[in-house]
Amino acid sequence: MNPVTLQPIGVVRSPYKTTGEVPKGLGAKHLAEGTIELRAEFEPGLADIEGFSHLYVIWIFDRADGAELIAYPPSDTRPHGVFATRSPQRPNPIGLTVVELLGRDGASLRVRGIDMLDGTPVVDLKPYLSSVPPERLRRGWLDEVERRP
Ligand SMILES: C[S@@+](CC[C@H](N)C(=O)[O-])C[C@H]1O[C@@H](n2cnc3c(N)ncnc32)[C@H](O)[C@@H]1O
Repeated sequence: MNPVTLQPIGVVRSPYKTTGEVPKGLGAKHLAEGTIELRAEFEPGLADIEGFSHLYVIWIFDRADGAELIAYPPSDTRPHGVFATRSPQRPNPIGLTVVELLGRDGASLRVRGIDMLDGTPVVDLKPYLSSVPPERLRRGWLDEVERRP
């Protein structure tokens, strides 16, 4: 397969400067506010985005340290395959975060719920549309961890 080249469309402005500042582990809440600043040339692509309450942000773990196929999530004592986790150390360092859209000023989106470091490159945005009924969702090993006393 041929390599894929991505061009960042913008950058995350976040209160988090280091990985240690981002809430982690079971029950971690992501309530931090920040902005997604798109490059001016991509602003026309934001037309009509204000109507969506939440967005998928697709971004790059630009400060990840290599890739590991077995991950040790902070929420569990057991290892898991990287694709069964949200580990930053993955073969393609792509991050995915659902944020609440608070407002828009031109090419800048104010959002809540970020878990990215300041300066993180953003490669795409999409409206969040969940169509999976809660009773059909299975949460894998996390369900078991959350049930532990
Ligand atoms: C567990 S990952 C989950 C990220 C995203 N929600 C996902 O599922 O792809 C979140 C962690 O990534 C790390 N992180 C955030 N921005 C990063 C960046 N630009 N480069 C490397 N690591 C980053 C932080 O330590 C944060 O706690």
